[in-house]
Amino acid sequence: MADLLLRGRVLSFLRWPESADDHAACRYEVDGGVLIDGGKIVSAGAYAVVERQAGPGVKTIDHRPHLILPGFIDAHIHVPQMQIIASYGAELLDWLNKYTFPEETRFFDPQHGRRIARLFLDEVVRHGTTTVAAYCSVHKESAEAFFAEAAERNMLVIAGKVMMDRNAPEGLTDTPQSGYDDSKALIEAWHGRGRALYAITPRFAITSTPEQMEMASALMREHPDLHMQTHLSENHAEIAFTSELYPWSEDYTDIYEHYGLLGRKSLIGHCIHLSEREADALSASGAVAVFCPTSNLFLGSGLFDYQRYRKREQPLRIATATDVGGGTSYSMLRTMDEGYKVIALNGEKLNPLASFWQLTAGNAEALSIDDRVGRLEPGKEADIVVLDSGATPAMRLRMERIETLAEELFLLQTLGDDRAVVETYVAGRPAKTALTS
Ligand code: GUN
Ligand code: ZN
Repeated sequence: MADLLLRGRVLSFLRWPESADDHAACRYEVDGGVLIDGGKIVSAGAYAVVERQAGPGVKTIDHRPHLILPGFIDAHIHVPQMQIIASYGAELLDWLNKYTFPEETRFFDPQHGRRIARLFLDEVVRHGTTTVAAYCSVHKESAEAFFAEAAERNMLVIAGKVMMDRNAPEGLTDTPQSGYDDSKALIEAWHGRGRALYAITPRFAITSTPEQMEMASALMREHPDLHMQTHLSENHAEIAFTSELYPWSEDYTDIYEHYGLLGRKSLIGHCIHLSEREADALSASGAVAVFCPTSNLFLGSGLFDYQRYRKREQPLRIATATDVGGGTSYSMLRTMDEGYKVIALNGEKLNPLASFWQLTAGNAEALSIDDRVGRLEPGKEADIVVLDSGATPAMRLRMERIETLAEELFLLQTLGDDRAVVETYVAGRPAKTALTS
């Protein structure tokens, strides 16, 4: 007998929605059900059909009238930045030196790492996020703490310790050899253990010497299946400094190309100021440009041109992310709200169905985990979010005028946050209402 049957309005995306009326892009059941067994989805669809498959006596949670969707996926976030989110008045390089790097030095202490990892995963679950691609600090212990905490919750996470051996304070640098050795040990200990995946994580070209980039390159060759995550072309001063450090490079992207760091599992944060050549190089490699709207606005970095990248002859693969603590919210709803405004400033409007495709199936595809999560379908892992479109008085009032699913999703994106998240299921288990802190 199955473990659990959820009832509610079930919504899952099949492909990119061309418009707010493109209902063929999604599967939507007004009276829907999701049947779960052993952490996986057994069936999803009309409640009457799913209930018959469940058989008698299965535990049922009735979430009507709420929406049941695949859990949100955050493609770029920094675990050790929880206590510097909302730090005033700096652009990227000053913000790193003044707030971020000093904060990250605290993570030499495994107890601190474990405490923050616990609070971090509590926070993302509270916001309906079931998978993160996360940066830990330079310390091996911080990644160990994060993976241990994620394993306890049975969460599908992609994470790595940052490799950084220059342009950072003492206590926050490794060496080419120790960065390699620690990454290697973490890969052996954690990659593929339970639901954990390791990402090789050279922080960005500024904080790695060419010798360390060679080591990252060696790790990529030795582990071609792994993700790689880094930052690219976020801020003009960053771009100028990078070009001083790598005078031979044609442009910023060329550095990552040179060291063999670009491929389909490369998650490249920001990508705001790319030339056409750089966009061509990224798209030819299949690398993913990660759009971090709240961070790009908060740090004054620039406007990521989502539609330009998506519609070019050689489209870029795109994911979206919070980038906390440069980002200002753990919520993927808040993230897409700000994303919508950034795209609007570039002269386009992202339709609400496309937004929710991006947060779920789209980010799963971009992270190459779409065989596992991102859609409510038999065989997929049961990472699920339940959303209440009337979570606040203002939302309830606005709901009185809502007529279509697209309008409702847009309301959730524009006014919603963690209060709209009724429940988050991780591998079929309620995880939000189980939080103790
Ligand atoms: N570039 C290098 N490190 C970071 C970071 O921690 N946050 C952001 N936003 N950009 C970076
Ligand atoms: Zn980042």
